[in-house]
Amino acid sequence: MRPVAAFQDRHLDPETREQQRRDQTGRSGPDDEDRTGSVHPTSQPEPDPATAPDAEPDRGAGPGSGTGPGSGTGSVAAVTALPDDLARALDAALDRVPASRLAPVVERLIGDYRGGAGNVRGTGVATAPILRTDDDAAAYAAYRMPATYTALHEGLSRAAEVAGDCLAPRTHLDVAGGTGAAVWAAARIWPTLVAATVLEGSEPVIALGRRLATGADGATVRSARWEPTLLGAATVLPAADLITVSYVLGELPEPVRDPLVDEAARRADTVAVFEPGTPAGYRRVLRARARLLDAGMSVAAPCPHDGACPITGEDWCHFAARVDRTSRHRSLKGGTLSHEDEKFAYVVATRATPAHAGNRVLRHPLQRKGLVTLRLCSGEGAITDRPVPKSRREDYRAARDTGWGDPWPQLDA
Ligand SMILES: C[S@@+](CC[C@H](N)C(=O)[O-])C[C@H]1O[C@@H](n2cnc3c(N)ncnc32)[C@H](O)[C@@H]1O
Repeated sequence: MRPVAAFQDRHLDPETREQQRRDQTGRSGPDDEDRTGSVHPTSQPEPDPATAPDAEPDRGAGPGSGTGPGSGTGSVAAVTALPDDLARALDAALDRVPASRLAPVVERLIGDYRGGAGNVRGTGVATAPILRTDDDAAAYAAYRMPATYTALHEGLSRAAEVAGDCLAPRTHLDVAGGTGAAVWAAARIWPTLVAATVLEGSEPVIALGRRLATGADGATVRSARWEPTLLGAATVLPAADLITVSYVLGELPEPVRDPLVDEAARRADTVAVFEPGTPAGYRRVLRARARLLDAGMSVAAPCPHDGACPITGEDWCHFAARVDRTSRHRSLKGGTLSHEDEKFAYVVATRATPAHAGNRVLRHPLQRKGLVTLRLCSGEGAITDRPVPKSRREDYRAARDTGWGDPWPQLDA
């Protein structure tokens, strides 16, 4: 594993400072998505152009919520580097393709995902597969797989943290799994996993996913099976202990989404749904969450309760994972930062355990001299701003080390 570096505000370069300013003020620049990679290119289903990804600033219940107790520097997420074997596998596969050939493909894919060619205008739903060629698959793996891997690793780890030994899946089904980001992430978190299957509709993506998997250190990823599958409303999924549905609901036609989530809930004891950290992505996660709860599951992460989501108004629940950027990634996306913040919304629901996190930190903690304020989603299903003064030495120390998305077990006021 490459080293994981903790970032401190005081060492930030100007581009990072600007990104953080946008996080804290809720102001996203017009080029925010391209520069930070914070918003997944999947175009949104709402016909209202105001809700298209370009129009969605990051100011939800995460760091940009303008409703918190003032702005502060807060903590910055640790940078997560890809595991060595995945980084090597990507290098080996992508070094064959000159970056100068991939860069225009990346640009086209970003456009396609946002509702350009191949999409029904204004709906964001693809009318034809977006990833059609080997170069499409390579470009996707180059500019998206590190980010989706990191978000999945972060969210699934949160669920594992809450559920402990109660959650020990042996089999994993990744639905519309692309090049297998979820398979790599889950196998890293749960050594109990012995078999993984990826259902995927694009042949070039399947070929690349299989090739990458041959470079894995672990047997579970190496032996993962990719099955060509076109998912529809009537698709019957094979049973597995864990089913992941990541960054795909928004790409599927509306009538396919609910049946797919319901089918996943029938076939697995644990279902994880990940979407871009936009209001539209959050709404899709919220809808999936309700269906998973109806199916008798309990939320392991991020919610510390199974009640209604307390977030209202213009806020939305999402989290961020800071992703190390390789030089290839920088040149493909035209950015200079050594990292990007992948914003994501997610739910991991399970029948394995009714345990919850005590509270969940919903935004960057605000740090002032002698005071840390945590915005929490509480176990009672309410949003609360919890001041932790220096006088409460132990809690204060813990609060200073706490970040957006962490659990906050302390229940005292
Ligand atoms: C945005 S990518 C996400 C890939 C992967 N889950 C991840 O998180 O990196 C969406 C994937 O879903 C696949 N896909 C979209 N619609 C599909 C369908 N109807 N049946 C099967 N695969 C589909 C695409 O080919 C693509 O690989």
